[in-house]
Amino acid sequence: ANPVLLPHLLYLKKAAKFNEINSTDYTNLVSLLNPASFNHNLWKTETMDELLSKRVQELASNGGEPPERYIYRGSDGIAPSFPLLEVPVVDLSCFASSSPLADQELDKLRLAISSCGCFQAINHGMSNSFLDQVRDVGKTFFALPTEEKQKYSRAVDDTEGYGNDIVLSEHQTLDWTDRLYLTVNPEDQRKLKLWPKNPESFRDVLHEYTVNLKILTILVLKAMAKSLNLEENCFFDQYGEEASMIARYNFYPPCPRPDLILGIKPHADGSAITFLLQDEEVEGLQVLKDDQWFNVPLVPHALLINVGDQVEIMSNGMFKSPMHRVVTNSERERMTLAVFCMPEADIEIGPVEELVTEERPRMYKKIKNFVSLFFQNYQHGKRPIDTVKL
Ligand code: OGA
Ligand code: NI
Repeated sequence: ANPVLLPHLLYLKKAAKFNEINSTDYTNLVSLLNPASFNHNLWKTETMDELLSKRVQELASNGGEPPERYIYRGSDGIAPSFPLLEVPVVDLSCFASSSPLADQELDKLRLAISSCGCFQAINHGMSNSFLDQVRDVGKTFFALPTEEKQKYSRAVDDTEGYGNDIVLSEHQTLDWTDRLYLTVNPEDQRKLKLWPKNPESFRDVLHEYTVNLKILTILVLKAMAKSLNLEENCFFDQYGEEASMIARYNFYPPCPRPDLILGIKPHADGSAITFLLQDEEVEGLQVLKDDQWFNVPLVPHALLINVGDQVEIMSNGMFKSPMHRVVTNSERERMTLAVFCMPEADIEIGPVEELVTEERPRMYKKIKNFVSLFFQNYQHGKRPIDTVKL
């Protein structure tokens, strides 16, 4: 064996002997420790416990008490029941042409994103059966045997691919979720080896879905500007033609302790806007409004669109990037697809000048590549947007 890895292999052997891990895990871990994918620097900051953290799906199927590391210790707590949030439903077809309903719909949009930060978009141009397909390819993937899914595993030090929470610190609370995280745009940055070939239609379906979302992003950014009586390109100009897009399928297995564990910790998205295709049957998403957590209802073939930090910055705080989190349940699995739309990395974004006034002074600095701030802050429970507040 590689001398650098030897101590770690010995540790694993010991753990296996004391039944802390079973033999399949042991074999998987040993293969994980192959020199090509093993990053020694990362190792130094990780404890054994972290390396041993398994796909949540496996933890869930093993039964028993979940590992300590998943227990959420935030002061907001996880109460047994929550009020339902009334999320406005916005008809996107009104923005596409000169519809007589456009003004009314723009008002609805503005009110929604300046209060709860999100809305349910209907008449988005995609058929119900197509959206079902988008969900199905994800569900089929997560239902594959572990070995098959692991062909698309993310590297220990990378976010892209199939895997669980990336571990950046020893004190991080882990999310009860497995993910398939893929860069979609710019297209030349796709890592196709991480895009499942099983189910066969996966790549085409995800591609087609995101082509649609690209068009909708432009439509929504323009509508946001119009809703504030601004020139319609003022947000889009900061977004750019070569914007980036990341797709993340989130799979939440049933959780033995929904009272103690979250599917995703409280966060706001680092995107400009995010499209969330929710599970068609199982709720879980919560949004913070007036310091209280609310459940977000399911609208089966609507897209839930939320403002991300970058539109909050561009709008000088007029539009809110809502804090949200995901709760778990002990009975049913849940799967969602979040698509994060980000401005071109080298465009500098900042509050639109017209929105900086005496009553509303500039709230944020100009910044480039905001997303790079994101992960480190998130895993430390900090809001990245606070680092650019004036
Ligand atoms: C996210 C997210 C919510 C959900 O992926 O950033 O907030 O319901 N997902 O899966
Ligand atoms: Ni989110």
